Amino acid sequence: MPARVLVVAAKPTIQSLLGKTLGADGHEILPVKNVSEGIARWSADSPDLIVIDDDAAGKPTLGLIAHVRKAEAGDRHTPIIQIGADSTVDAKIAALRSGADDYLARPVHPQELSARVRGLLARFGGDTGRSHSPKESEGRVHGYYGAKGGVGTTTIAINTAIALHRELGKSVVLIDGNLQFGDHRVFLDLGPSQRSIIDVVTTSGFDVDLLRKMVVRHDSGVDHLLAPATPESAELVSAEQHHLLHLIEQLRTAYDYVLVDMDKRLDDHVLDVIGVADRLIVVVTADLACIKNVRLLMATMAQLGVPEERLMLVMNRANAYTGIGTKSVENVLRRPIEQQIVNDYRSAISALNSGTPFMLNRPDSALSRAVLEFARRLTGQQPAMRSEANRLQLAAAAR
Ligand SMILES: Nc1ncnc2c1ncn2[C@@H]1O[C@H](COP(=O)(O)OP(=O)(O)O)[C@@H](O)[C@H]1O
Ligand SMILES: [Mg+2]
Repeated sequence: MPARVLVVAAKPTIQSLLGKTLGADGHEILPVKNVSEGIARWSADSPDLIVIDDDAAGKPTLGLIAHVRKAEAGDRHTPIIQIGADSTVDAKIAALRSGADDYLARPVHPQELSARVRGLLARFGGDTGRSHSPKESEGRVHGYYGAKGGVGTTTIAINTAIALHRELGKSVVLIDGNLQFGDHRVFLDLGPSQRSIIDVVTTSGFDVDLLRKMVVRHDSGVDHLLAPATPESAELVSAEQHHLLHLIEQLRTAYDYVLVDMDKRLDDHVLDVIGVADRLIVVVTADLACIKNVRLLMATMAQLGVPEERLMLVMNRANAYTGIGTKSVENVLRRPIEQQIVNDYRSAISALNSGTPFMLNRPDSALSRAVLEFARRLTGQQPAMRSEANRLQLAAAAR
């Protein structure tokens, strides 16, 4: 997608190098030498993306980033890539803190710059220059993020996928984003010989037709893009080339829903998913560690310019006693809990160990009913917040 790129660089050699690379990708370049020219062109020409190199004194050009972030109104978020001499992690973090979306150390490899620009344009809606909002024909992207390990994220993602497909008639693909230790094969009784995401990313120029052939169809009718069977091949899925993001972008053209069971680490893959997701479904249990982590996630979303409204809290094992009530969690996080799911360890673990999700063989259980209610809410078929039915289910299960 060709875009209009504002390139701020004091040194003419760097300006022409950046211009050539981006021009070769079909982008229109708006070249400027300093912050004040940059501010003027940003206001006048609304570029889709900004690339900023150091100023004439060789210092990071933070003034422009600060100005842009302050002046942006509403949904607008212009992705910014900062380029500098320092290749340390500290330099990258300082750039992200100052409001940049990405940082590259010189010498900049043209292919890497192209890939980062592509990734940011995809994440932030490309030539519209707005934060991502899906087209009518595109499927929804829902990221499932566990506020901490073991809260039931995979359980809920897998069973919601089945509910969306079998009960609500949607086409669904579920990606196992835990690239190293993904466990969907265990949950679904799919052996190590079944294809994985690695088969896709190692095929050059993958597209949606190839993806349709590479997904694994489960008995439930949900399609799966599995994690590799062994952790060492996970690194073939490249964060720098934004593989996961490109996969999602392709899959959403072919399915009603693209679900991603996300890794807990906030690495570049996860940041890509946060940027592109229409909804981030955060699974919590009622404890302080979860509350702390949801707050960190919300701060990250704010840094990425992702509206807070996209976050949905689901409380799993809601009626298990923790000493902290649902209301307190809602008050502390200032977000409603959209769905509570009953604590039923026996059903959950026996489904896992038998490789048959409860939504498939026990659709009438309390667990399944709560998940189905949640799936309905996701499709807009159940507008009210936590319903009376959900409250009664929890009360019955607590007896
Ligand atoms: N509602 C629930 N009630 C009881 N146990 C559950 C529930 N949901 C999940 N579990 C159990 O919790 C454990 C962790 O679940 P899992 O989905 O792997 O979590 P995560 O993906 O967040 O690490 C599993 O043993 C699972 O069976
Ligand atoms: Mg998991």
